[in-house]
Parts: sequence; C-alpha cells; structure tokens
Amino acid sequence: MEYQIKCVGVLTSGGDSPAMNAAIRAVVRAAISNGIRCKGIYRGYQGLIDGEVKELTSHDVSGIISRGGTILKSARCAEFRNPEGRKKAFETLQKEGIDALVVIGGDGTFTGARALALEYNVPIIGLPGTIDNDLWGTDMTIGYDTSLNTIMDCVDKLKDTATSHERVFLVEVMGRDAGFLTLNAAIAVGAEAAIIPEREAIAEQIEAAIGQGRRKSKNSAIILVQEHAIEGGAPAVAKLLEETHPEYNCRCTILGHLQRGGSPTAQDRILASRMGIAAIQALLEEQRSIMIGIQNDSIVYVPLAKAINEKKDVKTDKWDAMQILSI
Ligand code: F6P
Repeated sequence: MEYQIKCVGVLTSGGDSPAMNAAIRAVVRAAISNGIRCKGIYRGYQGLIDGEVKELTSHDVSGIISRGGTILKSARCAEFRNPEGRKKAFETLQKEGIDALVVIGGDGTFTGARALALEYNVPIIGLPGTIDNDLWGTDMTIGYDTSLNTIMDCVDKLKDTATSHERVFLVEVMGRDAGFLTLNAAIAVGAEAAIIPEREAIAEQIEAAIGQGRRKSKNSAIILVQEHAIEGGAPAVAKLLEETHPEYNCRCTILGHLQRGGSPTAQDRILASRMGIAAIQALLEEQRSIMIGIQNDSIVYVPLAKAINEKKDVKTDKWDAMQILSI
C-alpha cells in the first residue's frame, strides 16, 4: 500500500524520563528507513505553538541511546490546553508540512494529543514516556525501569547508614497519583513498609512493621512513602511516628528529581527502541490516536482515551509480597 505520510513530527512533553532519547532515535530512524522525513519539535507543545522545529537526520540522533533526559527538551504547556493554543500548533504543522505526530510523554501529553487530533484530524501516535508507569494498557512505560533501579540504588545506600545509626528512614518516592515505583522499589530493597495511594496507609501496619523489625533486634527500618499518598509526604509520616514513638530516631530523604535522570537501563533502551519503530509502523498502517503499549513482551495498540481514562491497578500479589516479606 502506498502510504500518504511524507513527514512526521516527534516531540517529548511533560516530565522527562530516561530512554526518551532512545525513543526519539528509533522514531527518526524508522521514519527515514520508510522514506518518511522526520522533524523534531523542541520543548513539547510549546515548541509546536512557537514553531521551534528542526529536521532530524539519522546522524542527529547518533550517540543518544545511552543519554538520559531528552535532546528535544520538554515542557508542560498551559497554552496548549486552550483551543487558541492548539490552533497555533496546527498552523505550525501546516507550515512545516508535518502530516503526522509521534508524542512521547504521559497522561497530560496524551490528553493534549487527543484534543488536537479531534479538532484537526491529525494522525497522532503516543509513546508512553514516564517514570510513573501509570498508563493503562502497557505493562511498562519508557523510563520506569531506570527510575526503579535508581531508587533501589539510593535506598540500598540509605540502608547502610540506617543500620549503622539504628534509625528509621522515611524515603519519599515520586509517582504522581500512582504507587508502582514505590511498591516495586519497596519489594526490591526489602523495605519494612510502603505507603501508596492505592492502599490505605494503615498507621498500625507501619507501626507493626517497624515493631517486628525491632523485635528481630533490627533497630532500623526503611519505609517508602509515595509523594502524594499522604498529605505532607515523608516528613508528615516522620512527624506522626515521632509523636507516638519518641524513641524512634527518624530521618527523611526526598529522592526528588534524581529519580528522573541517568543513563537508561538495557530494558528501557530496548523498550523505547521497539516502541519508536512500532509508532512509525502504526502510522503506515493508518492507525491514529493510539498509544503503543507492551503486554507480555509484545507490542500492542491501545486507544489513547483508554490509556488515559482506565485505571491501572497495583497487583495484589505484590502488595501481599510486601507484607509477607517484611515480617
Ligand atoms: O510524571 C513524572 C513526575 O516526575 C511525577 O512522578 C511527579 O509527581 C512530577 O512528574 C513532578 O513534576 P515536576 O518535575 O514538574 O515537578
């Protein structure tokens, strides 16, 4: 079949995540190998509004697979939430001769993409790029594995000092509204407890977990706290614990944006590469308004609406594992 798309635009938007560069590289090279030109749009939707566009060659994406962040820069763009902003964005697409878009980002990125697609009938494919892993329809998002490994490395280090000083460490983990990073990191580091938005933060449970540790003559504990699971985050939990247990020597660590940086893991590089190629393939198949997902190690197409609106659940066996392994 003769494809209609001659030039595809690619952008990264919202919070950056490791291996976004690997995804850009794959989109550019897959497009070029199918005879499609590829233009990079800088600073997400803001760049689309402002016309910050540059054609990308295969050489332009050389040597970026191992780099964290995004060579295209990223931004959260309020203007794109308004129809006037999207009108300007569409005008840039027309001016640049871009007839399809690949957007790499999370929930907010896909919400904007849907609006543009509905208003101007632009073929858009989404790639799930977020450390939060909170998009429905994909087992993993680009950057999640790297972030998880970063958290694990940091908490392993904290554990050393927690043990030496017999302290309780409350470690705040990112995730927006989702607890995937927190719960999985908690299992990986052997934490005493995890506080996540998907499960009630049961004060007694946390106390029991610390108490159990202390009975085992382990006078230190690691508790991972998802940033929005409890108002005030990790410091609020520390305050609560110290009120009820003045004998606990509590310390807080907020991992913050460390969790978004760094060279991507092999798993993320491979995932991003496969997804980038799949995005171009999907356009050639005349797909539109879908997200590329991965399920059981196979590429799947997920309607953008579902990726955003359906709720991805925390696996019960993982929550149970946390409880069982902290005794
Ligand atoms: O979505 C990625 C993420 O890092 C979330 O985990 C976090 O809540 C948010 O972005 C932080 O956003 P910003 O970098 O704009 O402060």
